[in-house]
Amino acid sequence: MKLRDLLFALFAAVIHGGNAYAQAPIVIKFNHVVAKDTPKGKAAERFKELAEKATNGRVKVEIYPNSTLYKDQEELEALQLGAVQMLAPSLAKFGPLGVKEFELFDLPYIFPSKEVLYRVTEGQIGRDLFKKLESKGITGLAYWDNGFKVMSANKPLKAPADFHGQKMRIQSSKVVDAQMRALGANPQVMAFSEAYHALRTGVVDGTENPPSNLYTQRMHEVQKHVTVSNHGYLGYAVIVNKKFWNGLPASIRTALEGAMKESTKFANAIAQQENDSAMDAVKKSGKTTVYTLSDQEKAEWRKTLLPVHKQLEGRIGKDVISAVYKEAVAVGYK
Ligand code: LMR
Repeated sequence: MKLRDLLFALFAAVIHGGNAYAQAPIVIKFNHVVAKDTPKGKAAERFKELAEKATNGRVKVEIYPNSTLYKDQEELEALQLGAVQMLAPSLAKFGPLGVKEFELFDLPYIFPSKEVLYRVTEGQIGRDLFKKLESKGITGLAYWDNGFKVMSANKPLKAPADFHGQKMRIQSSKVVDAQMRALGANPQVMAFSEAYHALRTGVVDGTENPPSNLYTQRMHEVQKHVTVSNHGYLGYAVIVNKKFWNGLPASIRTALEGAMKESTKFANAIAQQENDSAMDAVKKSGKTTVYTLSDQEKAEWRKTLLPVHKQLEGRIGKDVISAVYKEAVAVGYK
């Protein structure tokens, strides 16, 4: 060994705590905007555990929940710039990125059941949507479920007329915007991290989300009424920076794909149960009144909201909406 090499080895030994050949781990920064104790938060933790194990510690996954690094919108920019490597934004947040087809997931009553949803996310439609992300420097890895949404406000929301003039915090989706307008409400786009404060201070009157988000952000504490309406769906696309992903050694990528597959099964298995127990906790808290729509009320909501499909088909794409309808028909829905 030449003197220069010897000095280099000694220097490396000091840096790496005694092991001159230790490699620095590959770090995956995984930012998300919800609490740890949600379907997405728990699935992210499961991915970390599985990924680190499958790569024998070569990969280190750092999870930043609750918008601690970046909030909505910012996080997508950070991913494209490579400041973070992995995200799981809700499907409603891909419109502003220019991939409007993702907003099909926000169409009211588009999924009559989770079975139809999975036919979409795990089938050709889901794969085609992911292809559209590639030109944005993003690779789609998986779809993670959350659940069907409830509505909340400081007044009872039983009929569409009850929404008149209500300022409703929404995600950045033109479909959700149209949905709120169809109900006669005033939609206000706002980052998730700001929603609780806006509800508490009266900047907005109400909002929508699955119970797991409502409960873990304590929104039910500042909303007098919650309506179990299940009028729309909320789920996630787990995405990575394409350059980072393609630059990984093939064996590492394969190990991570395996970890993602397992954590996706986990995410989808816990989503319903997490939302059910969040709803129970909201009811038990006694801080809000929970109302479930009657069949007649549901019919009125449907009549008011279904025209949003036609209204937004020019933006989302008629073909992709029809393809989703076909998946429902294939399993017996009319
Ligand atoms: C929201 O912004 O309302 C939620 O979609 C946040 C999330 O990621 O679940």
